[in-house]
Amino acid sequence: SSLHSFLQALPKCEQHMHLEGSLSPDLLFTLASRNNISLASADPAFASPEALLDRYDHFSSLDDFLHYYYIGMSCLIHETDYEQLAWDYFTRAKSDEVVHAEVFFDPQAHTGRGVKYETVVDGFEKACQRAAAELGISTKLIPCFLRHLPVEESPVAFAQMEPDLGSGRLAGIGLDSTEKGNPPQKWKEVYMVAKAKGIRRTAHAGEEGPVEYIREALKELDIERIDHGIRLADDEELMREVAERKILVTMCPLSNVRLRCVKEVKELPIRTFLDKGVNFSINSDDPAYFGGYIQDNYCAVQEAFNLTVKEWERIARAAVAGSWCDDSRKNALL
Ligand code: ADE
Ligand code: ZN
Repeated sequence: SSLHSFLQALPKCEQHMHLEGSLSPDLLFTLASRNNISLASADPAFASPEALLDRYDHFSSLDDFLHYYYIGMSCLIHETDYEQLAWDYFTRAKSDEVVHAEVFFDPQAHTGRGVKYETVVDGFEKACQRAAAELGISTKLIPCFLRHLPVEESPVAFAQMEPDLGSGRLAGIGLDSTEKGNPPQKWKEVYMVAKAKGIRRTAHAGEEGPVEYIREALKELDIERIDHGIRLADDEELMREVAERKILVTMCPLSNVRLRCVKEVKELPIRTFLDKGVNFSINSDDPAYFGGYIQDNYCAVQEAFNLTVKEWERIARAAVAGSWCDDSRKNALL
């Protein structure tokens, strides 16, 4: 059965959505024009929003996508740009019945261009406050370290985040960008400093990279969630451990197809995870780039796996349980 209206009405928690990945070609061109930035010289695909969308249709890999992702976000300059980006996402998420959104962002991709760290976080935080007040959506901001940059730069980035991690303005730390060739253990030092301070930790692992990177991220970074984790099914024992420890795997089906990590949604280990008791959630990753927001991802999974209402309720409960909100909010969401 399609379960379409059931899935549309289902209250959703999102734990894997990059705010910069919600930058639509239309907003990108609006901001570029407002900030006098010409992107067509960086890549001819930036000729028009239509040309750009066409290019997004055939990414060949994670790095091919990241090339456009980093150029695109370079039109974000002012606090109001960041606020508008996040606000547009939250209003879009509301139409998919998102009730709680934990969103990633990449501070180093902005500070590296001369944008102040505070400009980024202040803009995003204003949108978060509006989302709570006007949409009833609770939110958490999670900054990620960029793994394609020298690891030596991560303590500088961490020092900027630290007061906000301490105050709760940021919920924890993540790790993203080019996975292959950048094993998690490179970030052990900064993750262990974070752990000692009681800061929550997640990391992208097993997206393009092998299951060994998932094992390493669990062991060396002591992560509490696994972002993507599609290669987890390659190691039975590790999968059992993740199930037992109730570690949440934040899956992004349409992303995995667009970035050619799998040929089709059917290839994802969703049935295996259900059978083995692995907790996972379904997310949109970079919805403006991958042709779908969270509801589109739920529908793609339903089409591929024909899950039951009971199974969806289990997925929804796991998403709440693995969220980084306080217990009173969790109880309200359950
Ligand atoms: N940054 C934004 N989206 C990403 C993804 N899917 N993998 C790694 N880094 C990312
Ligand atoms: Zn991601």
